[in-house]
Amino acid sequence: QSLAQPAGPLPQNWDALAAHVASCKRCGLHEARGQVVFGAGAPQAPDWLVIGEAPGDHDDRAGQPFQGKAGALLRAMLAAAGLGAEASVYFTNLVKCRPLGNRPPSAQEIEACMPALSRQIALLRPARLLLLGRLAAQTLLGTRDELDALRGRVHSYRSEAGQDIPSLVTYHPASLLLRPQHKLDAWRDLNLMRNLH
Ligand code: URA
Repeated sequence: QSLAQPAGPLPQNWDALAAHVASCKRCGLHEARGQVVFGAGAPQAPDWLVIGEAPGDHDDRAGQPFQGKAGALLRAMLAAAGLGAEASVYFTNLVKCRPLGNRPPSAQEIEACMPALSRQIALLRPARLLLLGRLAAQTLLGTRDELDALRGRVHSYRSEAGQDIPSLVTYHPASLLLRPQHKLDAWRDLNLMRNLH
């Protein structure tokens, strides 16, 4: 796979960025996608920006992130942290197109999509980030440390607009569905989230 398009300058306003990303062909994921999943939720200075990994089949069909079982668990987790349906939260992913067969996105796909996420964060100006799973955490925090070394404390993400954003890391809800023994630890992360709020 090669990058089909150079990044080019990305739009400086939200709607133009969404339109730009909707026709992106920077990596091979565009070939099999139904549609780009840009994100959903409160689009201006949300209390939290939740960053997952990649859209799944349900998300690809709906054009919205976190529509499937992992999304349902994520909403239950956020509600437990005091962030119910009315909370000021925006949801997006490291990559905006569905990898076939639910595989994790490759390093190259993540790299191709990162300029769009970086611009989203700069334009959204979220008060805090919640990074779901190892790939989102390592990419946004610029580290190779494993998930367990990153959970349990507050990190800082510097946006391209120069905003330092407090950031927490927790398990990806899809991994909690496979390994429910981690739910107790995830619960501790949610407590930390509640304290930061
Ligand atoms: N759906 C998403 O939008 N993101 C994930 O990380 C998992 C499911």
